[in-house]
Formats: sequence, C-alpha cells, structure tokens
Amino acid sequence: MGREGRRSPPSSRFLAKTQFAYCAFFLMITCCRATPVQERKVYIAYMGNRPNSQASLPALHFGLLHRIIGSAKVASDSLIYSYHRTFNGFAARLTEAEHQKLSAYEGVVSVFPNKIAKLHTTRSWDFIRYPKNASKSTRRQQSNLIIGVLDTGIWPESPSFDDSGYGPPPKKWKGSCQSSSNFTCNNKIIGARFYSAKANFTTKDFSSPRDSEGHGTHTASTAAGSIVTPASVLGIASGTARGGVPSARIAVYKICWSAGCSDADILAAFDDAIADGVDIISLSVGGFSAVDYFEDSIAIGAFHSMKNGILTSNSAGNAGPAPKTVSNCSPWSLSVAASTTDRKFATNVKLGNGKVIKGSSLNTFEPGQKMYPIIYGRDAPNKTSGGDASRYCYPGSLDKDLVQGKIVYCDDASGSVEGQIEAGAIGSVIQSSSPYAEMESPFPLPVSLLGAATGAELLEYLNSTSYPTAVISKTSEYVDSSSSPHVVFFSSRGPNPITSDILKPDLTAPGLNILAAWSEGTTLSGQTGDKRIVPYNIISGTSMSCPHVSGAAAYVKSFHPTWSPAAIKSALMTTARSLSVKDNADAEFAYGSGQIDPARAADPGLVYDARESDYVKLLCGQGYTTKQLRLVTGDQIACSTKTNGTVWDLNYPSFALSSSTSGNSVTQVFHRTVTNVGKPVCSYRATVNAPSGLKVQVVPDALNFKSVGEKQEFVVTVTAALGNSTISGSLTWSTSDGGHMVRSPIVAFVRD
Ligand SMILES: *[C@@H]1O[C@H](CO)[C@@H](O)[C@H](O)[C@H]1NC(C)=O
Ligand SMILES: *[C@@H]1O[C@H](CO)[C@@H](O)[C@H](O)[C@H]1NC(C)=O
Ligand SMILES: *[C@@H]1O[C@H](CO)[C@@H](O)[C@H](O)[C@H]1NC(C)=O
Ligand SMILES: *[C@@H]1O[C@H](CO)[C@@H](O)[C@H](O)[C@H]1NC(C)=O
Ligand SMILES: *[C@@H]1O[C@H](CO)[C@@H](O)[C@H](O)[C@H]1NC(C)=O
Ligand SMILES: *[C@@H]1O[C@H](CO)[C@@H](O)[C@H](O)[C@H]1NC(C)=O
Repeated sequence: MGREGRRSPPSSRFLAKTQFAYCAFFLMITCCRATPVQERKVYIAYMGNRPNSQASLPALHFGLLHRIIGSAKVASDSLIYSYHRTFNGFAARLTEAEHQKLSAYEGVVSVFPNKIAKLHTTRSWDFIRYPKNASKSTRRQQSNLIIGVLDTGIWPESPSFDDSGYGPPPKKWKGSCQSSSNFTCNNKIIGARFYSAKANFTTKDFSSPRDSEGHGTHTASTAAGSIVTPASVLGIASGTARGGVPSARIAVYKICWSAGCSDADILAAFDDAIADGVDIISLSVGGFSAVDYFEDSIAIGAFHSMKNGILTSNSAGNAGPAPKTVSNCSPWSLSVAASTTDRKFATNVKLGNGKVIKGSSLNTFEPGQKMYPIIYGRDAPNKTSGGDASRYCYPGSLDKDLVQGKIVYCDDASGSVEGQIEAGAIGSVIQSSSPYAEMESPFPLPVSLLGAATGAELLEYLNSTSYPTAVISKTSEYVDSSSSPHVVFFSSRGPNPITSDILKPDLTAPGLNILAAWSEGTTLSGQTGDKRIVPYNIISGTSMSCPHVSGAAAYVKSFHPTWSPAAIKSALMTTARSLSVKDNADAEFAYGSGQIDPARAADPGLVYDARESDYVKLLCGQGYTTKQLRLVTGDQIACSTKTNGTVWDLNYPSFALSSSTSGNSVTQVFHRTVTNVGKPVCSYRATVNAPSGLKVQVVPDALNFKSVGEKQEFVVTVTAALGNSTISGSLTWSTSDGGHMVRSPIVAFVRD
C-alpha cells in the first residue's frame, strides 16, 4: 500500500477516486442498458492445502474447469494459474454462472473476484537504535537467510545488490531465476520471477523481473541491501545505506505492474516463494478494504507461509488517519504501521528582503547565487482562459508572458506543477495545508511547499514591494527529535476491522522520508519532464516501514533459525519501544506494541508462541466450518464447542477487549502461555500499568523457569469501565535484574 503515500499528491488522489466513482457509475448505466453478455472475469478458486496424493493438481484444475465450462478449448483458454506447489487452487476467467457453479463445488473453500491491490534509508536504522555495529549475527548466519520480496521487481545493477564476497546460495534454496539478456541474478539476488496475469504492459513496464517503478528496489534494499557508503539523493541525506540484514539473500517475486498488483499474481508468488524456501516474506501491498481471511489473497498466502514456518511481514496500509482503515490484519501475519524518525528536511525560500522562510519538498536543484522575480499566480491570469483558477496555477490558467523565468507562488489545489512548467516558471512556491507536506516529495522543477502561516508571510512580502524576488534552496536535512517518533498521518489505523479483539497494527517502524535504492528505469519523481536518474531515492509509506520489520525479523531468525513465525513476531512485539500517547492521539491503534527494536528482539527472554492449530481453534470459534478448515489445513480437524477457541485465548502478544456499548463495565479473561527462550533458570514478575477505569489481574504474577523451552501459563483478567474513549494499559514480565522486559499493550475500547 505504501506507494500510494507518496507520488500522487493528495488532491490528484482524490481526483482519481472521483474518476473511479464516475467510471463505476458509468459502467453501471451501460451495463444496465446493454443486453447481458456472458462476460468473463478473473476469479480465484481457493481450495486449501496441497493434498498429499500424487494426482497432478494442474490436471485436476483443468478437469474441474472443463466440467464447469463444458468446452475443453474454453476451459484451457480460461485457466490462468494452477496453484500447486504449496497450496491448492487456481485462477480462471469465468462467467457469473460458472462462478456460482464453482462456488458450490465440494472441494472449494472460496471463490472470489480477482482484485487489483496497490503498492502501499540510511538514518532510519540508527534512529531505532540499531546502528551498524549493533548487528551481532555473523555474515555466515545472515547469508543463510533468504528474504522473499513480493513487489515491483528489482534493479539488479544497484550497488545495494552487489554480490562481491557472497558464496553460492544456501543449499535449501529451490528457487530459480527468470533470466534473460536483460536480467540476470547473482549471489545476492539469488532468485527472480515475474507474474503478469492481469498486467497490461505499458511502455513503462519491463517484461522481466526488472523494476521500472522503483518501489521494489527500495523495499528490497531496506530489508536486505548491502552496506553502501556514501548513498544520497544527489547530495541530500548523505550517509550509509544498508538493509536490516545486509548479508542476507534476496528472492524477487514481481507481482506489481503499472496497472497494479493482482490477487492471481500475488497467490502465484506466494505458492512459489514458500516452495522455493525463503525465510521471511516481505509484502508492501494491500487491497482497498479488509475482507474475509479466505477471500483475501494476502491472508491466504500468509496462512500457508505460517504453516510452512515462514513469517509474512505486511504494510498496514496508507489509508489513515481514519479509524478501522488497517488492512492485512490476519492474526498470523505482522501488520506494520509507519512512523517518523528524527531526520527532518527543509527546503528554504530566501526572499529579497533577506528573510528566510522554511518549507518542505525534496528539491535537488542547486540554486546558485542569483535571486529571481516572484509573482503570485492570482496576479498573472491568462486573459482568455485564466480567471480565478490562476491562483492555483492550473494548466492553461497562467499568462506565460508574466510568469516566464519567474518563481510563481500558488495556492495549492492539485499538488501538480504542470501549470507552472507549461507557463515557463523556473520554480514554484506552493501554499499547502495538506498533511502530505510532511512527506518530502520531488518535483521536476524547484519547489517549496509552505504551511498556512509561512504562506501568509510570503504573501505579505509580495505585497510589500513592487519588485519581489526570491530563491528556492536545495533541500537540506537536520536532526529534530521533538515529537519523534510519531505515527505518520497516512498510516492506517485500528481497530481491526475483521477481528476487533486482535489488536492491529502490530507495531511500527520508520516509514517517512526513507532513503533506499532506486530503479534507474524511472526518474526521481517519475513525472513527465523529469530527467534525473538516481540510484537512491527518498520515499514514504507503510511500504517503507514493512521491509524494516522484514529485515528485523530476519535478524531475529539469524540467531534462532528454528523459531516459529509467531515466536519471531512475539520477540519483535514484546521488545518494541512503547510510544507516547501525547504524540499519537490514536495510541495503540496507531502504533500497536510500539516501535521495533531489532537489537533487543534478538533476545526477548520469553515468547508467546502459536502454531497452526492455535489459529485453527480461533477460526473455528469465528464460525469457519470444519469442512472449510479441513481443506485449508489438510488435517482431519473438527470444530466443536469443546475445541472452539475464543479470540481472547489466542496466544497473542497483545491484549484487546471491545464492547459494543459505551458507558458500561466489561470483564474478560485471557489465557496465555509464555515459553522461556532466555537463561535456563530465571524468574519473572508481572508489572501492570493501568490507568483509572482499567483493572488488570494476573494469576500467577510470578513465573519461575528451570529450563530453556519450558512453558508456563497464566491468566489475565481485564475489567474496563468504558466511557467513549479507548483505555490503554500494559502488562510487562520482567526479570529482577531488568535484563528482560516482555511487554504487551492492553487496550479496551468501544467498537461501532
Ligand atoms: C557503536 O559505535 C558507537 C560509536 O560509533 C558507540 O558509541 C557504540 O557504543 C557502539 N555500540 C556497540 C554495541 O558497539
Ligand atoms: C533492457 O533494460 C533497459 C534498462 O537497462 C531498458 O531500457 C530496455 O528497454 C530493456 N530492454 C528490454 C527488451 O526489455
Ligand atoms: C487491460 O486491457 C484491457 C483491454 O485493453 C482492458 O479492458 C482492461 O481493463 C485492462 N486492465 C487493466 C488492469 O488495466
Ligand atoms: C492563454 O491561453 C491560451 C490557450 O487557452 C494560449 O493559447 C495563450 O498562449 C495563453 N496566453 C498567454 C499570454 O499565456
Ligand atoms: C495584499 O494587498 C491587497 C490589495 O492591496 C489586499 O487585498 C490583500 O489582503 C493583501 N494581502 C496580504 C497578505 O497582505
Ligand atoms: C459518550 O458521548 C456521548 C455524546 O458525546 C455522551 O452523551 C455520553 O454521556 C458519553 N458517555 C460516556 C460514558 O462518557
């Protein structure tokens, strides 16, 4: 989901939405007028676990499709993918009637339409106290790890993927490289495939794992890029670029194209990545809204990853700050929010009177010594087509003769600078009340975005002189730790829209203005007129925070190769730094357990472990049927009132309790089990942090362990007097020497 946070400025995003709504409306009218045709659409048939029988699944899928469609030729043309390496299912073009028939078929868990999902560093690692020298796993441990990145592909020539000093891929690797004259793998990028069921290739797309967008190169290098010094964006934010596990290997699964990322491709990539033997899956992509777990390609893929011992790290989405916007919220995956670091950027505007106004943007242009005339767009309307629109500098609204060679000041409406470029402006200062201004965006000409107060200051100056001048500085970075970290406005918020009493997002990591490797198949801004090809770029989104957590998860796994996905997730969550409610109004619904601390996560002391059977118990309790769950798991499980688990008893490393009505008191019991992964002999004590209105009882409140791997149970009883606002507390298990602190947030709230 991350990419959406960046490129298109806010109002053009809204415009896109309006256009979408308009198209849908238009479609509705035409479809109702036209005689119904047997239009085929792409559907996914999910059939659960891969059966152990020797029967060929692709043949079985074809047979099934043949029976449903009637014609072998049409069935063969309709089949897009057979998923058979890890799980069972297929993607095919079906009519509505065929879709209905297939849904009723015995072995089918779900049939859902193929949707198109969206894509959702240097300083960031230091900021979260994971400096280069904190990495204690050896190169040998790290180079056994493979991070599977499902994204827009990769730019293999980037210095971040240089394989000097790497040996051959680890023995467990079963993947392959779709190489061509234009794309080859190496000992860093050990595998690469591309999937294009839905993609309509445009001239921008490369029909290979090569990245024409930049997003996949950025996320892969954040998770596992080699150490590169110096890295910068044309001199801005210079430092060392590195991934979370700089010596790990990367396996590339290209699922996103200029048209988006389709469910059919996402599932094909999961099917391969799991069978190929990756250790962690990093996926910074999400749908439009949360849907049922087994109609969600990412939740299905993540379930089978979990079943095979692989943790999936997901972006929580860029649909914030409204509540219940979090996506990718299955209990078996990690949902990552995006927060700030202490590195800020300034793009100053110096005025003719010597005053300097602070603005934002990512401006790489060197200004030189000269001052330029500056004019307000409102004062330069095109006489025939301008009018009041010229204050927004819309295309066609400006008088070229007045604007040519000048800096033009505009009231922000679109965030696009097409009008300014068309009129021959040499730069633009834009007053922007959009919260997106927190995110530094590049433009094809010098631009500085001002806030309301600084915008007024500039207008005052324009009024004060008959020959106003200005110059826009190149962006410079500085350190400002006030209110950092805080969760960025765009980061999707909880509560969890599917299972309200499982807290989501799980945690947060840096996702604002992150520097990492870039594709040289595009430009810095990707906008027309931009000629700046850059090996590194600064972008924002939960897409950027997700690979930080994928890297951190791989770091934990480098010490504990046998840990389950839930154990790794628990280690990351219980060692996270809790953030301040003062800077984050939405508290846990913004940041979950807090900001990752990879160095501590490698030695968490205790973990809340969970296996496939624990999730199945939860799913039984959520109303999934024995039949569905037998298909999904491939096991002869049986849901019954005896075995059905409650959502509060899933061994999750955080606690959430909701009530449908405000103004009453609710009580809930949570059962939990912790596993000792620290010293063999150790004792823990429970500390509860509860504000008024929240009562938390822990029994027993002391745990004594005598061996590594030993499990101990405890019961947490939470009583919350719920007003209208969310109540946050926490439970921390700690050793007397303070060596280990195992913290879980406790949240009680009124759901709507
Ligand atoms: C890492 O290096 C910094 C200085 O560059 C030093 O202050 C810090 O103590 C070092 N940390 C470790 C874990 O060695
Ligand atoms: C090969 O890659 C280059 C970028 O290095 C690109 O410009 C070119 O179009 C690609 N050729 C093909 C056939 O994809
Ligand atoms: C792909 O192209 C076809 C035909 O031109 C069009 O109907 C379809 O909507 C396009 N799909 C996407 C995802 O853009
Ligand atoms: C005004 O706009 C028209 C097109 O609408 C364009 O042809 C003309 O060059 C513009 N005039 C100036 C002075 O920019
Ligand atoms: C600038 O001057 C105009 C006309 O004199 C006035 O309407 C406007 O409010 C002034 N703007 C500012 C920001 O002072
Ligand atoms: C919740 O808010 C409503 C409206 O703002 C108010 O009438 C009600 O008393 C509040 N309830 C509690 C328990 O605070």
